[in-house]
Amino acid sequence: MRLYVATHNRHKLREISQILPEFDVIADDSEGIEETASDFIGNAFIKVRAIAAKHPGSWCMADDSGLEVKALGGAPGVRSARYAGEPSSTPRNNALLLRNLEGVEDRAANFTCAVALVDPNGVEHSAVGKCFGRIATAPSGAEGFGYDPLFVPDGYGKSFAELSADEKNAISHRGRALAEVRRILMV
Ligand code: IMP
Repeated sequence: MRLYVATHNRHKLREISQILPEFDVIADDSEGIEETASDFIGNAFIKVRAIAAKHPGSWCMADDSGLEVKALGGAPGVRSARYAGEPSSTPRNNALLLRNLEGVEDRAANFTCAVALVDPNGVEHSAVGKCFGRIATAPSGAEGFGYDPLFVPDGYGKSFAELSADEKNAISHRGRALAEVRRILMV
């Protein structure tokens, strides 16, 4: 079954294809759509509605996700991709996060992934997944993307970037949200 996904992020797309291998995942580049909502699910719906208009009669999906750090009042949150400003830069985002947490002892954080879906009849669905952990004091690992080298999930002595794709997908915010999406797509 075809699943149109509103993203230009190839890392997200790869994870979505890995987690939902039974679906034919097709990227519809949503670049240029303004993510003006104040929460993840609001932005996911802005993105999915924009592509659903182009693919009537098909399943469409959007993922809006980010990192929330307790000591920073939930930042970077919906600004995760552009935490250090425009244009989006992973090295600058990660450097700013470490700088803002210098000397901070409580480094608790979580990733959130909000997924919005429009089904072939135009009915909307949603799912949210979270993964809790903490921010390391230095990056480690080369897998994954974004803040992965800095995020150590609870119960693990390694960052997301030190886990294999299968290990990350089994516990990640995106893996959890997409497990729920699979149930929605299968009915
Ligand atoms: P979005 O494309 O507006 O949803 O922005 C998502 C941003 O959140 C990405 O650019 C990353 O900075 C961050 N992010 C989301 N999911 C992950 C993940 O699984 N690992 C690392 N960073 C992530």
